[in-house]
Amino acid sequence: MAERSQAWLDRVERARQSAAERLGIDVGDFAPPRDGSTGETAEAAPPTEAAAPQPEPAVPAVEAAPEPAPQPAAVAEAAPVAAAEVAPAEVAPAEEAAATVEAQTPTTVQSNGSAAAAAAERVAPVGRAAVLEGFETGQEGINRREFLSYAWGGALTLLTLESGLATYQFMYPRFREGEFGGKFILGAATALPQIGIDPEGNSTGKFWLINTDEGPRALYMVCTHLGCLYKWEPSNNRFECPCHGSKFDREGHYIEGPAPRSLDQFLVEIVEGGSIVATTEDSGDFISAPTLPSPDAEIVVDTGKRLQGKPKALSPSKAVPS
Ligand code: FES
Repeated sequence: MAERSQAWLDRVERARQSAAERLGIDVGDFAPPRDGSTGETAEAAPPTEAAAPQPEPAVPAVEAAPEPAPQPAAVAEAAPVAAAEVAPAEVAPAEEAAATVEAQTPTTVQSNGSAAAAAAERVAPVGRAAVLEGFETGQEGINRREFLSYAWGGALTLLTLESGLATYQFMYPRFREGEFGGKFILGAATALPQIGIDPEGNSTGKFWLINTDEGPRALYMVCTHLGCLYKWEPSNNRFECPCHGSKFDREGHYIEGPAPRSLDQFLVEIVEGGSIVATTEDSGDFISAPTLPSPDAEIVVDTGKRLQGKPKALSPSKAVPS
């Protein structure tokens, strides 16, 4: 029995020294009491295999009597290194064994002179952990005031960008040149259709272009009655609506039918050198262009400005029924 106890004590001592070497501490710092007292460490130690050999039910009480003392001492010595001693081969990484021992003996480490060294070895937080710690303590990373400053700055920047974008969209033309609702540049004014020939249809701009003694006109293709698309009838030399029979002369003046007024028309401009030299008035009449417009002059139709036709009672057409 004595030999077994001694072997057990040697085994415990080797385990204790092995654990101390892994932790890099002096074995003397953890020297267990040799007076046989159990101490606080022995009481706090969890039950391990060190206590397992005690039962020995087959051993007579007479043989166990001479050597009773080693058992509590063995437990006291095994306590600091219990976790590392139990199965060192099973806990392969040295870091895990050291962490286990440190977790199970915090009071022992802090109660001796190596506590300062252990604190110095504490790994400083990095990354998000450092930022959070700094947020709490105000010692590292950004503090609460800086965080709020950045947040307000970002919000104001975003608001400024949105305001600028809204202003740009408001000032930007809603319709591009060449699409319905925008301006149509038809080319040189000298290339206008001659007076008296059939009107030219522009399906993209939705207007009929004609040239008259009073100047060019761009007639809106939609009937002023209920919105049907009227047609040019060369045989009758007039516009006729297939829906309800409204009729208009070649200049868009009302002739007959349910339409309440003459045809609507778009604003026409003759532009030379960036200046408007002739245009359509709000009444729909055209301010006469120069007799010989410059070859550089252009004719422009603005489909964004529609001029309403005159009421049928004011139509100059002689075909108005009495
Ligand atoms: Fe043209 Fe009725 S829609 S006459």
